[in-house]
Amino acid sequence: MKRTWVLQTCVGLLAVALALPSAAAAQAPSPGSVATGGKLYDKWWTAVPGVKEPVGDHPLWALQTTNKRKGLDTWRCKECHGWDYKGKDGVYGSGSHKTGFPGVMAAQARSADQLKAILKGSTNPKHDFSSALDETALTNLVAFLKHGLVDLAPVIDAKAKMPVKADAARGKQLALICTACHGADGTKLNFGKPEEPEYVGTIAADNPWEFQHKVRVGQPGSDPPMPAGVELGWSLQDVLDITAYSRTLPVK
Ligand code: HEC
Ligand code: HEC
Repeated sequence: MKRTWVLQTCVGLLAVALALPSAAAAQAPSPGSVATGGKLYDKWWTAVPGVKEPVGDHPLWALQTTNKRKGLDTWRCKECHGWDYKGKDGVYGSGSHKTGFPGVMAAQARSADQLKAILKGSTNPKHDFSSALDETALTNLVAFLKHGLVDLAPVIDAKAKMPVKADAARGKQLALICTACHGADGTKLNFGKPEEPEYVGTIAADNPWEFQHKVRVGQPGSDPPMPAGVELGWSLQDVLDITAYSRTLPVK
């Protein structure tokens, strides 16, 4: 009798142990969803098809006067919350991008339902994106907020604008995939103007926070589509290694 009980308990525990990981896996969003969410965070009206470009300034923009940008820029999640996801407590705490708006790091601890509600204006009706973005887009944004944010303060030296610890030689190997589109030295695509070029090397040197975001989740609306590190299985260290290598490429 006792042995049966012990056996049953063991079988029961085993079943729970086997079920748990799959239940957790079922809850974790796909890397593709996280990557799409990250591209939406960057510039949502170009990240997925069928979304209308917003008009005028974002309704919350009037609450601040320090960031002088107008129009489309004011609608980007990143413009208010930062490439480092820390808003006023991060890189956008000073300089021309300063708004005083909070970051989104706290989002990781919130439930997916809570986050979706925030994006539908539950905490502030002016923070309602549901008329522009459908349920799938909002689900992807939530996937990014819960599973795609990284704390960059310990790994990027803000003053030197470079990774604290990185292996550029390793980064060069990983960055071979970039050369197909950006060329061997990253100057094949110019993101700036002909007279004021911006290359892979320029962004890596000027803005490692933006750079890591683009490398982890891809470039919204890019043609051909730029691969996302989270879909390639890259770790944050992989991305930092690529950043360190890319800083050695031409900036103009
Ligand atoms: C014009 C500025 C602005 C834009 C654009 C913006 N937000 Fe916000 N966001 C705010 C402000 C201000 C708050 C603070 C609370 C509030 O007003 O709801 C906030 C709060 C949040 C929070 C809650 C943070 C917490 O403490 O949990 C999340 C999550 C969030 N925003 C995500 C996003 C996402 C995703 C986008 C892009 C679709 C976005 N925001 C676009 C200004 C902005
Ligand atoms: C399949 C092609 C492709 C590959 C591979 C690719 N990219 Fe891109 N990338 C693009 C395109 C297209 C753009 C958008 C160019 C534009 O807006 O003019 C872009 C944009 C960027 C930008 C942002 C420019 C901005 O808007 O500020 C960075 C940074 C970047 N890529 C870095 C990389 C790195 C690093 C790799 C390798 C890890 C990589 N890319 C791999 C196609 C690619």
